[in-house]
Amino acid sequence: MRTTISQLKEMKQNKQKIAILTAYDYPTAQILDKAGIPAILVGDSLGMVVLGYDSTVSVTMEDMLHHLKAVVRGSQKALIIADMPFMTYHLSLEQALLNAGRFIQEGGAQAVKLEGGVNVADKVKRIVDCGIPVMGHIGLTPQSVNQLSGFKVQGKTLATALSLIEDAKALEKAGAFAIVLETMPAELAAIITAGISIPTIGIGAGEECDGQVQVISDMLGMFTDFVPKHTKRYADLNGIITKAVSEYAAEVTKGAFPTLKESFTLDKKVLEELKKCVL
Ligand code: KIV
Repeated sequence: MRTTISQLKEMKQNKQKIAILTAYDYPTAQILDKAGIPAILVGDSLGMVVLGYDSTVSVTMEDMLHHLKAVVRGSQKALIIADMPFMTYHLSLEQALLNAGRFIQEGGAQAVKLEGGVNVADKVKRIVDCGIPVMGHIGLTPQSVNQLSGFKVQGKTLATALSLIEDAKALEKAGAFAIVLETMPAELAAIITAGISIPTIGIGAGEECDGQVQVISDMLGMFTDFVPKHTKRYADLNGIITKAVSEYAAEVTKGAFPTLKESFTLDKKVLEELKKCVL
């Protein structure tokens, strides 16, 4: 049985912190599930940390579905949240609902996430009204990187802080089950967290959020093009893999790999007969 959105809401009420991670493939989903991560986000960060784009705006529904299905196959317990890519929910209520529905029906997700506050509240309500749980995402919304002029801290002025509080309230009213707060002052995230009944999930939003989400490739040191300030490196997979790959290449070059242990042999009799046939 997978984690439910009611269980996540109860965790906020019980002051139990929620640890969410992203995943994009089957083996990572298996690991997260085994570690007891209650919810996995198949983020459109996929575009940057797996597909090598310089932002998330190029990610498509098909990209997401391909990776979402692998994560669903790799997990049994975590709630799977699929990130709706840029321009897949902006055009109309129908477009938003249709694409959210694809993630549930075709992809096997239990919930979707979309970026924005007041400006997408009508889309959130429409999707929720049709029975699909929605997670909101405000603050630094990477799909708007061009409008925001880069990946910058949001909500630093009175006006922008008030507008983010309004966004959070609009998402709660529209029926969102949780909201990601990305890259904003910790004090503002704390005010938002105290002011709404649904869980806030921070990424670069301080310790007062009800939970945290991190991009797995950042926290495991797999993606090294840049390290966001909000990332804590829990491992250096890039270093570990580079060492392993170099060792492999060196062993192949000098003939130390493969050995008999990694090889298959013919039955002696068959070998002798074979030699008679061909030699
Ligand atoms: O795409 C993603 O991974 C996200 C997280 C940064 C919250 O949206």
